[in-house]
Amino acid sequence: MLSNVLSAGFVLAAMLVLSWQITVVSLVLLPVFILPARAFAPRLARLTRERYELNADMNNTMTERFNVSGAMLAQLYGSPEREEVNFRGRAGRVRDIGVTQAMYGRIFFASLSLVASLATAIVYGVGGRLAARGDLEVGTLVALTAYLGRLYGPLTQLSNVHVDVMSAMVSFERVFEVLDLAPVIVDRTDAVDLPAGAAAVEFDHVGFRYPAADEVSLASLESVAVLDTRVPAPVLHDITFRAEPGQMIALVGPSGAGKTTISQLIPRMYDARSGAVRVGGYDVRYLSLRSLRAAVGVVTQDAHLFHDTVRANLAFARPEASADQMWSALDAAQVGELVRALPDGLDTVVGDRGHRLSGGEKQRLAIARLLLRAPGIVVLDEATAHLDSESEAAVQQALSAALAGRTSLVIAHRLSTVREADRILVVADGRIVQSGTHDELLARGGLYAELYRTQFRPATAPTDDATGGSGGRPGESGGGSGGLADAANAVPA
Ligand SMILES: Nc1ncnc2c1ncn2[C@@H]1O[C@H](COP(=O)(O)OP(=O)(O)OP(=O)(O)O)[C@@H](O)[C@H]1O
Ligand SMILES: [Mg+2]
Repeated sequence: MLSNVLSAGFVLAAMLVLSWQITVVSLVLLPVFILPARAFAPRLARLTRERYELNADMNNTMTERFNVSGAMLAQLYGSPEREEVNFRGRAGRVRDIGVTQAMYGRIFFASLSLVASLATAIVYGVGGRLAARGDLEVGTLVALTAYLGRLYGPLTQLSNVHVDVMSAMVSFERVFEVLDLAPVIVDRTDAVDLPAGAAAVEFDHVGFRYPAADEVSLASLESVAVLDTRVPAPVLHDITFRAEPGQMIALVGPSGAGKTTISQLIPRMYDARSGAVRVGGYDVRYLSLRSLRAAVGVVTQDAHLFHDTVRANLAFARPEASADQMWSALDAAQVGELVRALPDGLDTVVGDRGHRLSGGEKQRLAIARLLLRAPGIVVLDEATAHLDSESEAAVQQALSAALAGRTSLVIAHRLSTVREADRILVVADGRIVQSGTHDELLARGGLYAELYRTQFRPATAPTDDATGGSGGRPGESGGGSGGLADAANAVPA
């Protein structure tokens, strides 16, 4: 901008010295340079915004449909034609907008050069008459038109700056929108570190609802508009319990009861809406996230592995782990043999696009990852759901060794896995409806006893062992293997 302003200024000065009349004529056309930019800049900015949105939309489709699970779903339930039409439609819109934008750009420049040519013609016309009358030398006129070219070049560039800035503002807007979105979970400035070692976990009258879409996301970032600003219904009500250091607490209950949600409040994936969650006596909101998450090890319901080697997946939990430590963790989680049999052992690439592991194998690898990390508090969400009875017994053994001295929260549909728990909490509809040891709960009767009877029916039931699956929601028919969900339905209200 500076160099363009300077050259325009000097050229004007030189022209004024040569002939003020011609200079005035050429300046009369100056507004004509500003007009096209005025007209085109907002239009180009709008197109830029639309293009970014379409590109984001297209990226979303690609990451969602072209990953392994998405592609598999498309194969099984979709039709290639429909996918093609869909993709063609989106890609077509991206193409069209690119073409439109390029056309606008060309028209903008073409109109600027047209104006410049017209101006040159007018200067020649006016100057020619002056020269014919003898008021102007022909040489001066030629010098003036040469200067004119030098004047309009910088002017064109200057009006282009306006257009560039308008389009760049669109990018800024989108970037700042994201940068300005405050993270929901952040460290307090006076956060303290959680001391290492096993710690008590305490829920003190905790109430919770998931955040509404507009609290955690930006509408402009979602391909499917989240216009839904309704406040979600509470998921947890007045949850109170305490796990002493080294104790094992089990959470059981129907699908959708809120077990996973409870477990997510411990590593502070969300904050309680009321009441407090305490680890080692500290409210988790006053602990540094780094120390809290180092202390809490979680195996989630859908154990995720990165598309990387077994070694890298394990090292993710503990970068400095040696191969020996990895092998002992793998052996303890009962996957050592499996990994040894893989083509490249620890260096086999697993994850969705690598060597596909079964659900149970993935989960055991996730347990090995947890064992390697050796946290003071352990959360297992259905960690044994995918295992057959034999490997379950083996993993159970490994886990009980690994869980010794650790505070643990174990979620299970299969009641056989939680019998040994120090205390069992029965969760239904976001409330703890019963609590006690296995024997106490059985003796007392009620939901737990009912669930237990359903799972351990006398051998007349043909699929006695298949109760581990995640059952349907309450109210749905579980199709025979619904486990707790069905059992819960069987309990009279
Ligand atoms: N991210 C979320 N946003 C909004 N609601 C959610 C979210 N995750 C779960 N819910 C809702 O919270 C309730 C409790 O879900 P949760 O996952 O805790 O159940 P669960 O007891 O672990 O069930 P399951 O045994 O099937 O794993 C459900 O009604 C569910 O729809
Ligand atoms: Mg769950």
